[in-house]
Amino acid sequence: PRTAVVIPAAGRGVRLGRGAPKALRPLGGIPMLVHAVRAVARARTVRLVVVVAPPDGAAAVRTILDEHPLPDSAGATDVVVVTGGATRQESVARGLGVLTDDVDVVLVHDAARPLVPAETVEAVVAAVRDGAPAVVPALPVTDTVKQVASPPGGAAGAPEPVVATPERSLLRAVQTPQGFDRDTLLKAHAQAPAEGEGATDDAGLVERMGVPVVLVPGHEEAFKVTRPLDLVLAEAVLARRRA
Ligand code: C5P
Repeated sequence: PRTAVVIPAAGRGVRLGRGAPKALRPLGGIPMLVHAVRAVARARTVRLVVVVAPPDGAAAVRTILDEHPLPDSAGATDVVVVTGGATRQESVARGLGVLTDDVDVVLVHDAARPLVPAETVEAVVAAVRDGAPAVVPALPVTDTVKQVASPPGGAAGAPEPVVATPERSLLRAVQTPQGFDRDTLLKAHAQAPAEGEGATDDAGLVERMGVPVVLVPGHEEAFKVTRPLDLVLAEAVLARRRA
């Protein structure tokens, strides 16, 4: 039995501003995706990494990964590249499609979370191996969260009516890698609607089947690089690690 990680990296990164696909943006001179692959391969139990590349970017991604081989400490970890789809959910599903039969635990990790510590990855794997079908790293939220009636898209800056204020102490912000018993995740994706109310994370699909999902402590450094300020923070975290 072995652990595989699917890394969806097919997003265009529109919120980050113009330029290359987000996963290929450099951090400390190295593409974000390479950091993400190294971060999960550092976990001892991980033996297979499936990178899901932009539909027109598989060759470029393969070249970049070959230019940045894994350190010897990653052991015999295979890295394969497949092409993604229009949504994150579709990209993950394509990654799941190439898992080998010997894989029994699957993690899904965003390329956009390049600095996740190896201990967080190991903790997720351990919780799945201890019997939880779905495990999600999470942190308490620091901002109070307001619910509104509709997604963004109205006139920019127009005032929005508030619908509700969920109690903050009961909210958690979730991260990746999310870890799953392989069969549970495959079933969740097979039952997921192709479009429309697609879940924004994989555990959400598992919840819809009525299968329990548990949270384990996440890590501040597993934050998602989404907006330009996140790049500033990521560079600072890397500089601190290298100091
Ligand atoms: O858009 P979001 O920030 O939720 O993206 C999270 C991850 O999903 C990123 O690593 C992104 O590259 C990936 N993604 C993907 N295929 C898409 C959209 C996003 O692999 N069509």
